[in-house]
Amino acid sequence: MNKFKKEITGGMGIALGVTLFLGIGPSAWGAMTGDPANGKKVFQGWCIQCHGVHGDGNGIAAPALMEKPANFTDPATWKMGDVAFFINVIKNGRKIMPGFWDTLKPQEVLDVLSYEKTFRKN
Ligand code: HEC
Repeated sequence: MNKFKKEITGGMGIALGVTLFLGIGPSAWGAMTGDPANGKKVFQGWCIQCHGVHGDGNGIAAPALMEKPANFTDPATWKMGDVAFFINVIKNGRKIMPGFWDTLKPQEVLDVLSYEKTFRKN
């Protein structure tokens, strides 16, 4: 690879990095859609122990926690905020809930959120 080509490729790497960074900004999230089927796998791997098999906040770890994990079957849970709010909770955590910024890819955050919404009753 000659020097010119290297510069081009390097530049593209930076451009891609910037795009990925901007891609996880709040405005871009609205354009992305979550896949509940993949979200189920993410949920079973990372969330089920607190939020429970039925998404009602009664996971096996729940009794030991200082705060009750959110109940996704309850419409009131979904009135706490907009999509950006929930994405932020999953990424950065809230109260005793850990953040998954380092663990989940942006797409996985959307996937698991779309799966959690399937628990909602009405
Ligand atoms: C260690 C237990 C624990 C784990 C693991 C956990 N959560 Fe939570 N989660 C909580 C608690 C506790 C709350 C309630 C926080 C509050 O009162 O605001 C919560 C709340 C939420 C909420 C609703 C917003 C809110 O503030 O109530 C969402 C959405 C959520 N969790 C998603 C997830 C997802 C997605 C995962 C897995 C990637 C996950 N949680 C893993 C404990 C957990």
